Amino acid sequence: MKLTVLSRSASIASTHRLVEAARARGHRVRVLDPVKVQMHLDGKSANLFYQHRRMPACDVVVPRIAQSVNVYGLAVVNQLAMRGVPLVNSADAIAQARNKMRSLQLLSANGIDIPATVMARDAAELREMVGLVGGVPVLVKLLQGQERRGIMICESLQSLEATLEAVLGLGHNLVVQQYVRKADQDIRVLVVGGQAVAAVRRRPRVGRLSQTLNAGARLERIQLPTAHRRAAESAARLMGLEVAAVDMLDVKGAPKIFEVNSSPALAAMEQATGVDVATRVIERAEALAAQARATRTPPRSHEPVAAWPRTSRRAPAKGRKLAGGRV
Ligand SMILES: Nc1ncnc2c1ncn2[C@@H]1O[C@H](COP(=O)(O)OP(=O)(O)O)[C@@H](O)[C@H]1O
Ligand SMILES: [Mg+2]
Repeated sequence: MKLTVLSRSASIASTHRLVEAARARGHRVRVLDPVKVQMHLDGKSANLFYQHRRMPACDVVVPRIAQSVNVYGLAVVNQLAMRGVPLVNSADAIAQARNKMRSLQLLSANGIDIPATVMARDAAELREMVGLVGGVPVLVKLLQGQERRGIMICESLQSLEATLEAVLGLGHNLVVQQYVRKADQDIRVLVVGGQAVAAVRRRPRVGRLSQTLNAGARLERIQLPTAHRRAAESAARLMGLEVAAVDMLDVKGAPKIFEVNSSPALAAMEQATGVDVATRVIERAEALAAQARATRTPPRSHEPVAAWPRTSRRAPAKGRKLAGGRV
């Protein structure tokens, strides 16, 4: 099988593991940088180019779109979907997971427990709404996922108001969320193809506050209780994600999901659990490619196919073989 990983660099640990796992299973793998893919649409066809040639054909794509190139990267992922390429995470599912309120709304509407959360655009109103999430301390979370930190803890109403005014004043959307105190009950479940395949507890490093957990947390393998497994698998299914890290807090033995990640770090999870997560992802990619092969209608011969413009200063050199064919 020909497999493409869309990722900024082959040296990123998770990307490297995916390539390694795919090669070990005998696949041909390419890592393509999503921002170096160009797209063309004209109402009749949807084309993709890479380095001024038609993008090489492949059987399945694993998108690993960095937050920093979210909009562009997801346009590429969607263009691949338009060409019928199976994806191990669709653009819609990734976009939804990256919007915290949208994700919580979907989970909550489907009976999955989440930490109480409020959203408003006005600092004074939000301050009044704090009672709805159990009072301070609370977490203020920027709505659209950030590459780095987008979360603040507020211990008093005064610090909350100051934070809200500053953040809302910058034009950011945010949610205010109940702060669940016990930090050793922060659980991450990796779900691949609808099945929970690995689970860890995340503990802050000594001297770190619990709210900085994802900045260098210590991961410990855990035996996942059934309720947590079910919640994680349901969350991934509801979000439409083939690969997801479902983050939850354990509150008196019951899971409260606060985030679902669409491009989770694989290497750290593997080290902590001993589970070959990358191979599970590749196996899922194989299944999706096989499904697509079984149901695919052959491309119509009259369907227009655009080439990279010949007038371009950077047209491919004469005599050089064009890479790949139709995607
Ligand atoms: N409601 C909460 N109560 C307590 N801790 C939380 C809560 N929500 C998140 N956290 C902690 O803060 C970290 C970051 O929160 P998260 O929503 O995942 O934001 P980010 O977008 O930065 O990943 C989590 O990994 C978790 O340890
Ligand atoms: Mg997180």
